Amino acid sequence: MSSSITSQSSGPMLRIKAPAKINLHLEVLGLRNDGFHELAMVMQTIDLADFIEIKPKSDGLITLTTDSPELATGEENLIVKAAKLLRSRSGMSNLGAAMHLEKNIPIGAGLAGGSSDGAAALFGLNVCWNLSFTTGELIELASELGSDVAFCLEGGSKLCFGRGEKLEDIVGPDEPMSVILVKDPDMSISTPWAYELCKEVNGRKYLNNEHDFEVSRQQLRNSSWLHPLRSSNPPPLENDLENVVSSKTPSIENSLSLLRAIPGSLGAAMSGSGPSCFALFSTYKDAKYFFDQYRHKLEKHGLQIWCCPFCDEGVRLEK
Ligand code: C5P
Repeated sequence: MSSSITSQSSGPMLRIKAPAKINLHLEVLGLRNDGFHELAMVMQTIDLADFIEIKPKSDGLITLTTDSPELATGEENLIVKAAKLLRSRSGMSNLGAAMHLEKNIPIGAGLAGGSSDGAAALFGLNVCWNLSFTTGELIELASELGSDVAFCLEGGSKLCFGRGEKLEDIVGPDEPMSVILVKDPDMSISTPWAYELCKEVNGRKYLNNEHDFEVSRQQLRNSSWLHPLRSSNPPPLENDLENVVSSKTPSIENSLSLLRAIPGSLGAAMSGSGPSCFALFSTYKDAKYFFDQYRHKLEKHGLQIWCCPFCDEGVRLEK
């Protein structure tokens, strides 16, 4: 365990794993009254993770440090927001924590790194501060913090509706599928920008009432590829943001065509609002084999690359 936090003791330090997600399906159904988009998604946790060390204190101070030079560590950071939200709901203003974030998930990548960090802070501080909020209560707090935070708490394979915070279980694959994941390191995408662009391009085709939203949700729930998720009947990998965002971002088109040229994959798609893209494989063995074959080519195109199996859980205590 790293010794990045050097505060006075007031409880044992916890280390929390905060994994990334990809979207196996992302359908933009329409606009909601709150200005957000109504979504129908399938999200999947993958084994690429940040880690947060939390040292509880009783001086009312909440502090965050990180090894990432790109990240702000003040009030705007979702970890700090999560800590302050949880403390305010507890009613105990003396609660404090010194937290350190080890950042491995790229930022602004469509992989929910920030959301997972926020979820990890909620989960870890609930333990450190002995608050005993239930999972249901934590999920409610997570939904206040951001659309993907509830999913990141639960993790695994899930249907996600509403803004993304309404979760329904699906059965994950028996043998974990895996992805080759790529990201242009010089590119990050603002999620609000991606949704705004989607509204401009596709807004006229949006559904506009709850009945039609529910019909679409039911179609997704009934998709044959979901019961269970399995490589013999792989997901079609549809993402409504992909065409919209990639048409303005040539490096995403480049990533997708490089991934689609890898033999043996079940398909390729952009994750979330991009720019990360992935190729899906039946097994980790397959993915690793093609990862080793193609890594030089992908790196020669300037891409960051990872080979990650699916995981069946979200944020958790690291042993
Ligand atoms: O909830 P979150 O903070 O992750 O959302 C970031 C932004 O992405 C929102 O402010 C909104 O512009 C856009 N968004 C959306 N519809 C969603 C989720 C996000 O329009 N369901």
